[in-house]
Amino acid sequence: MDNFTAGELLEREANLKNSKLVIRGGKRLEGEIYVHGAKNSALPILAGVVLCQGESVLHNCPRLSDADAACRILNCLGCKCSRAGDSVVINSADLINYDVPSDLMREMRSSIVFLGAIIGRMGRCKLSFPGGCELGPRPIDLHLSSLRKMGVDINEEHGFLDCSAEKGLKGAVISLAFPSVGATENIILAAVRAKGHTEIHNAAREPEIVDLASFLNKCGAKIKGAGDGTIYIEGVEKLEGAEHSVIPDRIVTATYMCCAAITRGEVVLKKTDYRQMSAIVPVFEQMGCSVYTYSDDTIYINARKSLKAPGTLRTMVYPGFPTDAQPMMMALASTLTGTTVFVETIFDNRFRHTDELCRLGAKISVEGTVAVVEGVQKLSAAQVHSTDLRGGAALVTAALFAKGVTNISNLYHIDRGYANIEADLRGLGADIMRV
Ligand code: EPZ
Repeated sequence: MDNFTAGELLEREANLKNSKLVIRGGKRLEGEIYVHGAKNSALPILAGVVLCQGESVLHNCPRLSDADAACRILNCLGCKCSRAGDSVVINSADLINYDVPSDLMREMRSSIVFLGAIIGRMGRCKLSFPGGCELGPRPIDLHLSSLRKMGVDINEEHGFLDCSAEKGLKGAVISLAFPSVGATENIILAAVRAKGHTEIHNAAREPEIVDLASFLNKCGAKIKGAGDGTIYIEGVEKLEGAEHSVIPDRIVTATYMCCAAITRGEVVLKKTDYRQMSAIVPVFEQMGCSVYTYSDDTIYINARKSLKAPGTLRTMVYPGFPTDAQPMMMALASTLTGTTVFVETIFDNRFRHTDELCRLGAKISVEGTVAVVEGVQKLSAAQVHSTDLRGGAALVTAALFAKGVTNISNLYHIDRGYANIEADLRGLGADIMRV
C-alpha cells in the first residue's frame, strides 16, 4: 500500500507543473486501449465517504491529481487514505475537523462537493470556494439555496463559506432551476443523514449521479430515482463504509474516440460503457466512422475513410451531447470535410481552446457561445499551452494529426482528468512523450 505523504504529493505536483508533451503527428492509431474510472464519479464518492463511520474501499479509482487532492482533503478532515494501484482505502471512522484549508480547496475545482458531505456528518463546515475558473464564473447559488432549505445557516464572504446546522439537517422538497450536477450531488450528500424526506426535482441525470447513489445505498442510505429527473431520499441515522467500483469515464472514452478518428485509425476501447455514449456514438457515425460494440464494456471505432462534418453540435445536460466532449470534438471537426457549428449551452466561456487550435492551423470563428469550425486538409505543429482540462485534451487530439512536432505545456490541467494520456496513446502507436 503506498500511503500519501504530503512531501511526495507536493513533489509530484511540482514535476507536473514544468513538464510538457511532445507529439509528432501523422501516426494512425491502432490497437486496444483501456479506459480508467470516471473522475466525476470518484470525486463525489470520495466526498461521500465522509458520511460513513467505517472503512470504504473504492476500486477503479483513477490516479489523477484531482483524486490525490480529494484524498488530501480527506486526510485533513481526519480520515486515513491509502492507495494500492487503482484501489483507494479510506477509514472515516473518526472525523476531527470540518474546516478545510483554502490551499487544499484551491487545488480542486470541484471541492465544493465536500460541503454537503461535511455538513451531513459534522453539522458544521468551513471552506473557501474558488469562484471563477477557466470555464467562466462557477456560481454555487443553487448549492447554497438548496442547503439553506435543509436548515443550513451559510455565511458567505469573499469566496469563503462558514456553514452550520445547529438544529441538524432536515429533509426538504427542492426544485432546481437548472439540473446542476454539483448541486444535485451536494443535496444528496446533505440529505442522506438528514432528518426526514428529501425530494430533488429537475435533478441532474448524469451516470455519475447514479454511481454516487449506488455507493451511498451500499453504505445504508435510502436513495431512489437517481438517473431520473426526480430523486427521493429518506434520511438515516448512520452510514457504514462499503466497497465499490467506480464507473468508467465517458469523457475519457469520448477523448480516445476523437483521437482514433482524427488519425483515421482503428481502435478498440475496453473497460468502458457503451450505454453512456448514446449521444456521442451517432456523431461519429454521421462523420462516416463505423462504431459498434460487441459487449457493453467495449467500443470498436474504425475511421479509415475520409470523414465529413456532422453538422451542428449543441451541448446539453445528460443524456444529450456532453459539454466536456466539446473541445476534443472541435479538434476533430477541424480536420473534417465541411463546416461544423458548436453551440455551447452549459458554460459561458468554454471556447478558450479555440485560439490554441487556430495556432495549429484550425479555422474556427467564435461568436458568444457559438463556434463555427471550417474543416481544413492540414494542421501544422506549433508550441501551444493547455487552457483547461478538456481544452488540453483537445490540443493533444489535434497534435496527433498536425504535421511536425507539437509541444503542449501546462500539463497540470490535463493530469487532472487523464491518468496517463501519453502511455495510453503511445500504446496505440502515437509518437508522444512527456519531457
Ligand atoms: C460538473 O461540473 C463536472 N465536474 C464538469 O466537468 C461538467 O462540465 C459539468 O458537471 C456539466 O456536466 C464534476 O463533476 C467534478 P453544473 P459542475 O453544476 O457540477 C451553472 C470536467 O471537465 N450553475 O452542472 O460544476 C454553471 O455555471 C468538468 O470534468 C449555476 O449557475 O456543473 C454551469 O453554467 C468541467 N449555479 C452550469 O450550471 C449553480 O449553483 C452547469 O454546471 C451551479 C451551476
